[in-house]
Amino acid sequence: MALLAVEEVQKSFQGFLALAGVSLKVSQGSFHALVGPNGAGKTTLFNVITGRLTPDRGRVRFREQDITGWPTPKVARLGLAIAFQRAQPFASMTVLEALTLARLGYTGQTFRLFRPLASFAQALDKAQEALGKVGLEAQARRPVGELPLGDLKRLDVAMALVAEPQLLLLDEPLAGLSRAERHRMVAFINDLLRREGMTLLFTEHDTEAVLALADRITVLHQGRVLAEGTPEEIRGNAQVRAAFLGGGA
Ligand SMILES: Nc1ncnc2c1ncn2[C@@H]1O[C@H](COP(=O)(O)OP(=O)(O)OP(=O)(O)O)[C@@H](O)[C@H]1O
Ligand SMILES: [Mg+2]
Repeated sequence: MALLAVEEVQKSFQGFLALAGVSLKVSQGSFHALVGPNGAGKTTLFNVITGRLTPDRGRVRFREQDITGWPTPKVARLGLAIAFQRAQPFASMTVLEALTLARLGYTGQTFRLFRPLASFAQALDKAQEALGKVGLEAQARRPVGELPLGDLKRLDVAMALVAEPQLLLLDEPLAGLSRAERHRMVAFINDLLRREGMTLLFTEHDTEAVLALADRITVLHQGRVLAEGTPEEIRGNAQVRAAFLGGGA
């Protein structure tokens, strides 16, 4: 049974067809990579899935509910969260404060003036739990803006984990990291998210990392699905090699 099903999604920007009828199924517990050259439509598809963009055509189903066009917070509350440079806007806050605020945001309580103290304490608990999961306890009281990039990326994941999602979306989790940091991040994602039984949909340009993480791969090219399969199947696909793996992306 698919946890997430994208069905024939189309999205254009001023006449430019960024997604030309994309279908995709992510099964429960799998690590699913969405790969493709720059401009293939990966981030656009993530934006459609998380409700930041409404598709022109097609549907998005999550946990057997049609979530097409739902606002992002409502999607998050159903258990679908995205980690993408969430922490950066909170540069002057401490790591723990940013996580607590993120948790309050997910539970819809950020802007309530007289929120009950209990919900605040619960948010703090969840924030501390997420910090422990990503191994950033020692950084709890540091301002977000002072974190090295590798820790900031872990914090981005923690910011999504406080929503306690069933499906986590990561858009280029390794971007900007050094080779050594990329290895550490791959191990971190594998260890943490497998242990949590999380379902993961991610994009990544680093082919080695994709092969190290993914159970299934969908290849997007010019807004269309070019191929879908296991890492072995994708590696052996001549069309894919021509369009992407050998294409310098
Ligand atoms: N808001 C927008 N307005 C106009 N065009 C857009 C918008 N968002 C994306 N596009 C275009 O849609 C296409 C797909 O972009 P998208 O960001 O989804 O690609 P991507 O696969 O994520 O690429 P990358 O690997 O570089 O992140 C690109 O041609 C892009 O310029
Ligand atoms: Mg992108």
